[in-house]
Amino acid sequence: MASASKGLASTLSSLTNTNFLSSSDLNFDQVLSLFDLAKQLKTGNRRIDLGNRVLGLIFKKASTRTRVSFQVAMARLGGQTVDLNPQVTQLGRGELIKDTARVLSRYCDVLAIRTFSQEELEEYARWSTIPVINALTDLEHPCQALADYLTIQEKFGNLEGINLSYIGDGNNVANSLMLCGALLGVNVKICSPKGFEVKAKIIDQAKSLSELGAKISITDDPLIAVKEAQVIYTDVWSSMGQEEEQIRRKEIFQNYKVDQKLIDLADKEVILLHCLPAHRGEEITEEALESKNSYVFDQAENRLHIQQALLAVQLGGL
Ligand code: CP
Ligand code: NVA
Repeated sequence: MASASKGLASTLSSLTNTNFLSSSDLNFDQVLSLFDLAKQLKTGNRRIDLGNRVLGLIFKKASTRTRVSFQVAMARLGGQTVDLNPQVTQLGRGELIKDTARVLSRYCDVLAIRTFSQEELEEYARWSTIPVINALTDLEHPCQALADYLTIQEKFGNLEGINLSYIGDGNNVANSLMLCGALLGVNVKICSPKGFEVKAKIIDQAKSLSELGAKISITDDPLIAVKEAQVIYTDVWSSMGQEEEQIRRKEIFQNYKVDQKLIDLADKEVILLHCLPAHRGEEITEEALESKNSYVFDQAENRLHIQQALLAVQLGGL
């Protein structure tokens, strides 16, 4: 046990003071060690006190899970968070990111940022002298993907060779699921209507990460996609910032609804995941979301444990 924890600490020490902007920022060993640490924190087998460190939260979009799980994670680590919502800071009045990032680095120990463009997140990272975490951009949601694969590992034990089928929009959640899955040896199939697929650049990036032989594929047929799936995953058809496309997307995505028919076609042990919030009756039926196959609340809980582990290692708390 002592040497196992030493192995964990030495793998994770490489993440001290690093950014987490994309699922591709981590390697296989780091992700599995983060899962081990998250499980120790979850069961109470391990406590980490960072001693009053401060996480700044810059959120340009709404959030329940990400915001609250980061706040609670920081509290459990003996630290605190400050809310840097652009509406109440000079960011909302046009202060430059390069100035804001350097100032905040003098007060805070780590920043979690939810915004639209990945480039904006990268601009914060460029100017900050403290770690920056992607709390969702239009391109990626890497903290979500970590919690998702932790949930799948808890259920099935092993991740390698698991078949995950994502039904819906090729969005930020799909991108991070594909990248992180590739890293972990999970066969990721993304099923989207034509014109809403994951971009070729992400698919190529995922393929280059799949050293363990994960099969990365896309299709537009949900009935074929879910065959042999141990995990069916879905997300909203219109993400934050796409509100004006809602009516058009509702029509285009009609056949991409996770329902009992899809569950019946999948592996008999299949679990359903959704990052939440869900639009019942659109991407998933009420019946499916509330079924025994649904692990969405375990998945939401794991946001807390994995982010607590991530913060602990970024802040050098092991
Ligand atoms: N899944 C997720 O990121 O939820 P929030 O938008 O509530 O943070
Ligand atoms: N794809 C969704 C995820 C929300 C957690 C969005 O970006 O709105």
